Amino acid sequence: MNLTLKIWRQAGPEAPGEMVTYPVSDISEDMSFLEMLDVLNEQLNAKGEEPVAFDSDCREGICGMCSLMINGEAHGPEVTTTCQLHMRSFSDGDTITIEPWRAKAFPLVRDLIVDRSAFDRVIQAGGYVSVNTGAAPEANNLQVRKEKADRAFDTATCIGCGACVAACPNASGMLFLGAKITHLGELPQGQAERDARVVKMLGQHDAEDFGGCQNLGECSAACPKEIPLDVINQLNRDFMKAKR
Ligand code: SF4
Ligand code: FES
Repeated sequence: MNLTLKIWRQAGPEAPGEMVTYPVSDISEDMSFLEMLDVLNEQLNAKGEEPVAFDSDCREGICGMCSLMINGEAHGPEVTTTCQLHMRSFSDGDTITIEPWRAKAFPLVRDLIVDRSAFDRVIQAGGYVSVNTGAAPEANNLQVRKEKADRAFDTATCIGCGACVAACPNASGMLFLGAKITHLGELPQGQAERDARVVKMLGQHDAEDFGGCQNLGECSAACPKEIPLDVINQLNRDFMKAKR
C-alpha cells in the first residue's frame, strides 16, 4: 500500500505545532499501525529528516502506551490498541490523520507523545490495600462469589491507555477511575480502605483537571478492554456512601 499521512508535529510543549503531510510507501496490510510508523521513520531517517516521536512499549495490547488519535478516533477504526491495529483496516491510497491525545490532564511532550502520569497520581492517591503479613492464607477461607470475581477481573484489565479520556468531549477520566475503584471494591481484600480510597482518588482525578462525566458513553465505546459504563455508577455510589 501507498499512503498519505497527516501527522501532528511539535518539537516540545511550548513549541508551535502543525500538521505535516508525509507520503509512505511499501506498507503491507499485515503490518501493525506502529510498524507502519516505523517504516515512515526509516524513510525519514534515510532522507536526513527528524523521525516522528510516538510512544510504544509492549506492542501486545498490554501496556497502554501506544495512544494515538487516528482519523479522529482514539486508537483508530477498530476497538483495540494502536499496536494491535493492522493496516488491513486501511486501503491503498488512503489519507490517514494522526494526532496525540488531546486533554488538559495529558500535556503534550513531543509530536504524538503525551504525559499520562496524571493516571499514576490518581492510582497513587488510592494508597495501599491492607494485607497482613505472615503465611499465605488458605485459599478457601475467603470465598468470593463468581460474579464478583469475574467483575473484579474484567475491570482489572484496564491498561491505563487513556482512550476513554481522549474520546470524551469533557476529557473525563471517570471510566478509568471507575475501573480502578470497581476491581478492588468487588473483593474482600479491598473493603478495609474502600471509603477512603474513592474519596482520595476522585479528589486527585478532579485536581488533575480531568473533566466531569455526563454519561455520554464515548469512553466505554472507545475502550480497548471493553470496560463497561456502569463502573461509573459504582464509583458514584461508593463516593456517596463514603461521604454519608
Ligand atoms: S478504561 Fe479503557 S480506555 Fe480507559 S484507560 Fe482503561 S483501558 Fe484505556
Ligand atoms: S504498545 Fe503496549 S498496548 Fe500498545
